[in-house]
Amino acid sequence: MIPIAKPLIQNEEISAVTEVLRSGKLASGSKVKEFEERFADYCNTDFAVATNSGTSALHTALLAENITHNDEVIVPDFSFVATASSVLMCGAKPVFADINMDTYNIDYQNIEDLITSKTKAIICVHLFGNPCDMDKLIQIANEHDLAIIEDAAQAHGSKYHNKKAGSLGDAGCFSFYATKNMTTGEGGMITTSDPEVYEKAKKIIDHGQKGRYLHEILGYNYRMTDIAAAIGIEQLKKLDKFNSERQNNARRYNEKLNADGIIKPHPMDNCEHVYHQYAIRVTEDYSMSREELIEYLRNNEIITAVHYPSCISSQPLFNNKEPDNSTSNRLSKEILSLPVHPSVKENEIKFICDLINEA
Ligand SMILES: Cc1ncc(COP(=O)(O)O)c(C=O)c1O
Repeated sequence: MIPIAKPLIQNEEISAVTEVLRSGKLASGSKVKEFEERFADYCNTDFAVATNSGTSALHTALLAENITHNDEVIVPDFSFVATASSVLMCGAKPVFADINMDTYNIDYQNIEDLITSKTKAIICVHLFGNPCDMDKLIQIANEHDLAIIEDAAQAHGSKYHNKKAGSLGDAGCFSFYATKNMTTGEGGMITTSDPEVYEKAKKIIDHGQKGRYLHEILGYNYRMTDIAAAIGIEQLKKLDKFNSERQNNARRYNEKLNADGIIKPHPMDNCEHVYHQYAIRVTEDYSMSREELIEYLRNNEIITAVHYPSCISSQPLFNNKEPDNSTSNRLSKEILSLPVHPSVKENEIKFICDLINEA
């Protein structure tokens, strides 16, 4: 069986966790601080704030950017739901932009039409590890005085023109869920070089406290544990290696996949895609439907996944209406993730490609 994802937990992580457990300092200890400092350093930002999930990182970053009731935030219609539900958590309204079919990322050409006097921010998602077209987004944001929050939940270590994801907008948000390019089991991180955003985020994740029992603003318990941070420190040391193994696997797929009707991912020029997913499009010109291909691969012990089977705007949470955005909707019917994680072997990729090419 070739799984779609496999966390790589080794002796280093196990020893680091054991050390924390033996220390008795399971929360609010030195490991969280060390992980924050190392992560900020890795992303080349001045600050980082660890959280207990990518979703809480997004919620916190939006609040730290002062997003509140009746504000509007532009988000891509094709992403994981938390990209948009985090906006609802602030009492604000997500406004769904269509995506670009080549990059699968937010289409900057679509954004200006959606800007109103209520628009306060754009969340751009570096989907599957492929960085967004940041120059264009920053230009639009500057013209309209909007904040940019990067949803980098799938893009640890990816680069846009040599700058790391998480350092490109006003704040970056990462997830360390078990299947991500690096993990803490569950966890998240906010990166920023804005001292005000940093100070506010620190309070929000800790009950709005400044110092002990002085609650200045509404906050939450979004803190990361030292157990999770200890795993994160070890995973961060291996992240570049994990990413280069994903990139090698993606290269192998690019070389070997050649079936008509299968469209391979398009990395942006001058960017480093870190292949959280290697997501192909199974179009009408292919010899079978996407669902038939999923079944065929499963019968050959290969597990694939559909990220995501519908665009966010058509979810019941957002009124369950007809999708607003035709490219996002079409992509949700065609997209298919193939196993690309570091544990997939070269001969396994050859086997998967042969099956797809010869189907
Ligand atoms: C694009 C995107 N945004 C946000 C999240 C939320 O992260 P978490 O699951 O850690 O809350 C995820 C996680 O799957 C994601 O893929």
